[in-house]
Amino acid sequence: MVSDAGPLLETRGLTKSFRSLVALSDQSIRVDRGEIVGVIGPNGSGKSTFFNLISGFLQPDSGEIRFAGAPIVAQPADRIVRLGIARTFQGTRLFQALSVADNVRAAAELRQRTGLAAALLGGGRRRRAEAAVEEITEELLDLVGLTARQENRARDLPYGDQRRLEIIRALATRPSLLLLDEPAAGMDASETKVLLGLIDEIRTRYDLAVIIVEHDMDLIMNLCERIQVLAHGSKVFEGTPAEVQAHPAVREVYLGHG
Ligand SMILES: Nc1ncnc2c1ncn2[C@@H]1O[C@H](COP(=O)(O)OP(=O)(O)OP(=O)(O)O)[C@@H](O)[C@H]1O
Ligand SMILES: [Mg+2]
Repeated sequence: MVSDAGPLLETRGLTKSFRSLVALSDQSIRVDRGEIVGVIGPNGSGKSTFFNLISGFLQPDSGEIRFAGAPIVAQPADRIVRLGIARTFQGTRLFQALSVADNVRAAAELRQRTGLAAALLGGGRRRRAEAAVEEITEELLDLVGLTARQENRARDLPYGDQRRLEIIRALATRPSLLLLDEPAAGMDASETKVLLGLIDEIRTRYDLAVIIVEHDMDLIMNLCERIQVLAHGSKVFEGTPAEVQAHPAVREVYLGHG
């Protein structure tokens, strides 16, 4: 099903407008398996729109999105999750009233055939799917140190833990591509450092490609192999962290000095 040749994700000519506002214009990107790519740009430059298009939350006006060689434009968001693309949101979107563990389970069930789909399967397969959900949930809670708090309601977690829960919810769907939308927002320097370690660890452990949108330049520069810079919906530059930092146009549009 998933082709191993060629890039994992490729967009071409990706364009999205809201009325007269062009939020993303003729964007293209290529992300290989296991790669970690940053997308930066000022507020309103189209970064979240880009994620919304890839994850099927919005449909592009024009352009192509290919994942593992196959076009995914017009596929519903839940289908895209099952193909192996998971995302987090800029503002946390947890099930606030559910327990920490149930938040992870609910995500794991998207990929394992439990619930209604399992009712159509034999009992043995259903039990195996349910066991897989429990195994994934346990492993991911342990990964971010939330095992002891798994019965707490999500809304009772401290902010940093909520952000980490959001990340393991995405991982519970067993993605090959993870989209992180400002994961460090609202974190202090020491929490951001822990986050950096976590992203690095999950990427290796789960053989993930990661696209990260962030305003925290230390995090971006330390984590990413390649960075794409957006301004007003258009790609203005793409390069290594060193190239991005040295590029005059980037310094002007993004870093605020020329
Ligand atoms: N659903 C929508 N309806 C109308 N306009 C939208 C919608 N989503 C985004 N926009 C607009 O499109 C532009 C790009 O927004 P987007 O959220 O992609 O920016 P961003 O780069 O993620 O910014 P930030 O760094 O503030 O999160 C903005 O001008 C925004 O107001
Ligand atoms: Mg955004």
